[in-house]
Amino acid sequence: MTLVETGVPIGHQRRAPECLPRLLEAYRPDATVELGEHLERYGPPPWRGSDRRGRGPLLHTIEQAGLRGRGGAGFPTARKMRAVADHRGIRVVVANGAEGEPASQKDKLLLTGLPHLVLDGAALAAEAVGATEVIVAVERPARRALAAVAHAIAARHAAQLDPVSFRLVAPPGRYVAGEASAVVNYVNTGVAKPQYVPPRISERGVAGQPTLVQNVETLAHLALIARYGAQWFRRLGTSDEPGSTLVTVAGAVAQPGVAEIALGTPLGSTIMAAGGPTEELAAMLVGGYYGSWLRAADVWDLPLTHAALKVGGGSLGCGLIYAFPARACGLTASARVARYLAEESAGQCGPCVYGLRAMADTLTRLATETPDRGTLQRLHGYCDIVIGRGACNYPDGVVGFVRSTLDVFASEISRHQRDGRCRSGETPRLPLPAPTQRDWTWQ
Ligand SMILES: Cc1cc2nc3c(=O)[nH]c(=O)nc-3n(C[C@H](O)[C@H](O)[C@H](O)COP(=O)(O)O)c2cc1C
Ligand code: SF4
Repeated sequence: MTLVETGVPIGHQRRAPECLPRLLEAYRPDATVELGEHLERYGPPPWRGSDRRGRGPLLHTIEQAGLRGRGGAGFPTARKMRAVADHRGIRVVVANGAEGEPASQKDKLLLTGLPHLVLDGAALAAEAVGATEVIVAVERPARRALAAVAHAIAARHAAQLDPVSFRLVAPPGRYVAGEASAVVNYVNTGVAKPQYVPPRISERGVAGQPTLVQNVETLAHLALIARYGAQWFRRLGTSDEPGSTLVTVAGAVAQPGVAEIALGTPLGSTIMAAGGPTEELAAMLVGGYYGSWLRAADVWDLPLTHAALKVGGGSLGCGLIYAFPARACGLTASARVARYLAEESAGQCGPCVYGLRAMADTLTRLATETPDRGTLQRLHGYCDIVIGRGACNYPDGVVGFVRSTLDVFASEISRHQRDGRCRSGETPRLPLPAPTQRDWTWQ
């Protein structure tokens, strides 16, 4: 690292990126950006302190920037930070890198390639809300990401860079283990199941203390906003949903992988950024298995924002986009996913355990047998019964996925009913962890 006379690394004076990529500006697929290179490029985190109530000036900047969470729901980050700062106690920040969505790669890519950007953001968020400990949660199967983060934490500790301490935890690779209360529960008890009971995590989370849980990508954005300001952040994206976001594009595209796009970019342009479709597309799964199928022909121009997707019946979720080919059977592919999702229930709430299993059984029957006329109606009925009945939102996400399957692949269902079997070409398996590689434990 080269230092100028003031002790400020030269890289600190580097100009903010004017266009994309922002987060991924320094990313290299085959290497981790080490602390020296990171400091040369960005300088140390711009610490700004917090008052005795745990409210730092960064909080105001994050509010001005309009940063929203990148972990799924798109909740305003400053509101969550304020809620934690408002509660007395030994506040804690959790950087959520669990990334339980099987096909999503963006958090693992960030943690493996640019761990210091995430750790900067977590430490800055901690300082802004008056926390002294940061817990980084990375799912156990993500070995490369875990190793990169452990190495990065050790390097920062040796350099005495941060006014906060870091702890790395590795919850099992279960779909719901990344839900905020499940991460907190894992830290507290070693069991990665959601605990959706009042009071909120912002009041009593890790060790019963006020806890801020943010997705690791959210924290990486926060690290750049702290350096380059709210107006810089707002130069991309829409006024309600500013900035850039990471998306994982998979399926029938020429260059599948993680891309950084401005929020509001049309879905079609995002597919083109991933090399374009390799064949005719029937549908896009947007938001992962917690999201919805959308008809490819209807959504080419749909802007990728939480608001626009909500109107279009979808959700941006973790930013996963799967391009599904027209030659294949979306019903068969979705039935396999529904089975996986039923198996991933945390087994604590009746409607989630029995309802998701019944939905998966019925969808499988629709896809593999000659279903009687009541089968489809029964499946709709299960969706109506299950929605809103879990202690966490997991079953609602599965209902959204199943309902969109019934809507978007309605012609496949009719064909199956008419022909008594699937006549589509070979159906690609949507990404699921192999049974032998799955974590079946919750500890
Ligand atoms: C079933 C379920 C699974 C989730 N999995 C993850 C996950 O793997 N990673 C993540 O960051 N957020 C996940 N979330 C969202 C978290 O509960 C939480 O909202 C998020 O980590 C907050 O960060 P953000 O505000 O920065 O997005 C999940 C939510 C649900 C309901
Ligand atoms: S709804 Fe399902 S995943 Fe959520 S707490 Fe209940 S059993 Fe667990």
